[in-house]
Amino acid sequence: MNEYDSDRIKNALDAEPTDDPKKADIIIVNTCAIREKADQKAFSGLGKYKSIKANKPDVIVGISGCVAQLYGDKLLKKIPHLDFVLGTRAIPKLPEIISNIERQKRRTVETSYDLEELFEVEPYHKEGKVTAFVSVQQGCNKRCTYCIVPQVRGDEVNRPLPDILKETTNLVKKGVKEITFIGQTVNSWKESGYKFGDLIRAAGEIEDLERIRFTTSYPRDITKRMIDAMKEVPQVCHHLHLPVQSGSNKVLSNMKRTYTREWYIDTIARLKDAVPDITISTDIIIGFPGETDQDFQDTISLMKEIEFESSYSFKFSPRPGTPAAEYEKVETVDPDIASARLSELQAFQKDIAEKKNLSRVGQIEEVLVEGESRNDPNFLSGRTDHNRILNFKGTKDLVGKTVKVRVTEGLLNSLRGELVL
Ligand code: 5AD
Repeated sequence: MNEYDSDRIKNALDAEPTDDPKKADIIIVNTCAIREKADQKAFSGLGKYKSIKANKPDVIVGISGCVAQLYGDKLLKKIPHLDFVLGTRAIPKLPEIISNIERQKRRTVETSYDLEELFEVEPYHKEGKVTAFVSVQQGCNKRCTYCIVPQVRGDEVNRPLPDILKETTNLVKKGVKEITFIGQTVNSWKESGYKFGDLIRAAGEIEDLERIRFTTSYPRDITKRMIDAMKEVPQVCHHLHLPVQSGSNKVLSNMKRTYTREWYIDTIARLKDAVPDITISTDIIIGFPGETDQDFQDTISLMKEIEFESSYSFKFSPRPGTPAAEYEKVETVDPDIASARLSELQAFQKDIAEKKNLSRVGQIEEVLVEGESRNDPNFLSGRTDHNRILNFKGTKDLVGKTVKVRVTEGLLNSLRGELVL
């Protein structure tokens, strides 16, 4: 989501990006507020540009994204070298804001929710990109008690189907082979009578689009219509990111996740009935207020039962204005206990991930080659249908092609293999 917004910001400015902030005329720190750590990163990020502004007063420094939306004009008071604060729905207003600052040297805050222009600016597209995101939804209508998203991104707004298809088709014409539809609860997308399953089917009709992914799915919005589309549209990748957050029904209820452990397990079973080789990844929060050792063990036992392909796990972070920040005042989980639980869970997941990756050794996988491997230019890197990273020796002309690769090694976070000619 943030990467997509950063690319939209680049496009809105119609400026040449630079890796060297000293050379920049405009510096924007795009931020995330989901956990306190991300929030603090925004402030340290801005701090880095203080001396640049001191040496070059004409440089324009701004903050955008969820932290900007959350704190608004307080940021101008707190950070003297900041010129503007751009909320999560204000990206289309950026050119106007910059030109006003240039003309009038007036510091600006824009955090209103202007729905009309919401999807107007499409992201910057780097030539030769093989994969791309397309936003289908902004904001969120769920009210998970730990989550700050509804506060900083507003209620759910779904993008009309023709717009989504137009952006996707344009990207495919530019050479993109794989599209990931993004939304906070992407599978709750519905618009003008169409539901998420219809969106997948419509995308499946786009010529030369080889792969369709989407993220993040909300468990309760998994419908038969969606599962049928996943089964029947051949371009849909067999991987789903489906955050469970906890394996304890008590904690799930306190989080207002609106499903039970049993319901989640049954949903995975329904998905596997339709798409037997589907892989599932998840998000988990540890140390939610009131989480007992038994609750934590319920999460571990769920992980044992499902064997997620991978999981992102986080220590609960109280966010201002959320109900769970209030629960935390009464039922805090001791931070040392939370840390110990997180380590235990991550060690458990590591074993599963390693076991799963090892089980692929000897198999032939179809890989969409995304580019050279970051660590070694002799290696190419791509992902399998199941979203595993696979690195193998090959030449650059294969970028953008789907090739067959025999897996030779299963590592913790990736696979290694050799091209099958
Ligand atoms: N504390 C910890 N983790 C959180 N997440 C969202 N809000 C919080 C919070 N307050 C996690 C959830 C979500 C992921 C994107 O971030 O697991 O799925």
